[in-house]
Amino acid sequence: QEPLKALGKRKGLRVGNAISHGALRDSGYKDLMVRECDMLVAENEGKWQALEPRQGQYNFGPADELYAWAKSQGMTVRGHNLIWQDAKWLPKWVNEYDFGTRPVQAAEQLLRKHVATVCAHFGSAIYSYDVVNEAVDPKTAALRSNVFAEKLGALEQIDLAFRLAHEHAPQAQLVYNDYMRPDEGSAKHREGVLKLLHDLKSRGTPVHALGLQSHIGSWDELSSDKGLKHQQDWRRFLDEVTGMGLDLLVTEFDVNDRKLPADVAKRDAGVAALAKDYLDVTFSYRQCKDFLMWGMADNHTWLQGWKEAPRTDGQKMRPTPFDEQYRAKPLRDAIAAAI
Ligand code: XIL
Repeated sequence: QEPLKALGKRKGLRVGNAISHGALRDSGYKDLMVRECDMLVAENEGKWQALEPRQGQYNFGPADELYAWAKSQGMTVRGHNLIWQDAKWLPKWVNEYDFGTRPVQAAEQLLRKHVATVCAHFGSAIYSYDVVNEAVDPKTAALRSNVFAEKLGALEQIDLAFRLAHEHAPQAQLVYNDYMRPDEGSAKHREGVLKLLHDLKSRGTPVHALGLQSHIGSWDELSSDKGLKHQQDWRRFLDEVTGMGLDLLVTEFDVNDRKLPADVAKRDAGVAALAKDYLDVTFSYRQCKDFLMWGMADNHTWLQGWKEAPRTDGQKMRPTPFDEQYRAKPLRDAIAAAI
């Protein structure tokens, strides 16, 4: 089988995977990733919570080790993420920070220090950053709030984060990353993301691309009668995003199989079909130049333990292209075919 990265190379598509620091001890998994991928993103180790768990106490070690391994294998690295908008994913000390009597200045300063420190530490090792992650409330289409948004205004704060990233990582591609999908339940989410991107564009914010997380599931099917509506909606969304001059990246691909049949062969076929349809549409945009999986094997996926993803029959999830023995599943062929 030709490696995914080789297939991708011919189409101008980089192929990557999210890996955790702990997975560096799994040589079989590392071999699999080296064979298939030319890009790495740290699953958690590049997040603010991980990098500065307590104010001023930096812990760059795990991310550094992951990135050094990537470099030794000739892989490029994406940074994920500078600001996770949802307060629940910011460090506790940030949420409890004392902004004093000049809160606007203090908020700007804290944001600046964070972005400057992280960008300076990693330097040109990172070619692309998720600058802001998940800023849109999927239920209301409004921007989510956090301590920075409270002081500066949410749009102003997001704009500032991009400007700071541009200043401190001038070589990097700057990405807004979110999890809107084709399904009807995501309509508000897509609407909010489009509004945010338009607002940023009209302010002259240095944003270069939209990250499509692509945690898809059976609710996103694109080929049945109902699916055709999803497909139209998804194309309309991607048309509008690319119409703003933005590039696209698939940043966190996996297929949630929570609602697919227990029978493994049927389930794997269902996962593969959903993926093929979704990726065919998404890869049809020449602006889509990166494809990253959020875990490549069923023993290396966050969905195995994710509280919102369990199967009701107690079976393990099968959301990734390789099984627990690192044997290719139909999803792997579907990805190869879509590339
Ligand atoms: C997830 C990780 O995979 C988990 O290990 C962690 O507990 C929570 O975060 N969207 C994102 C990723 O942007 O950072 C998330 O990663 C998955 C959803």
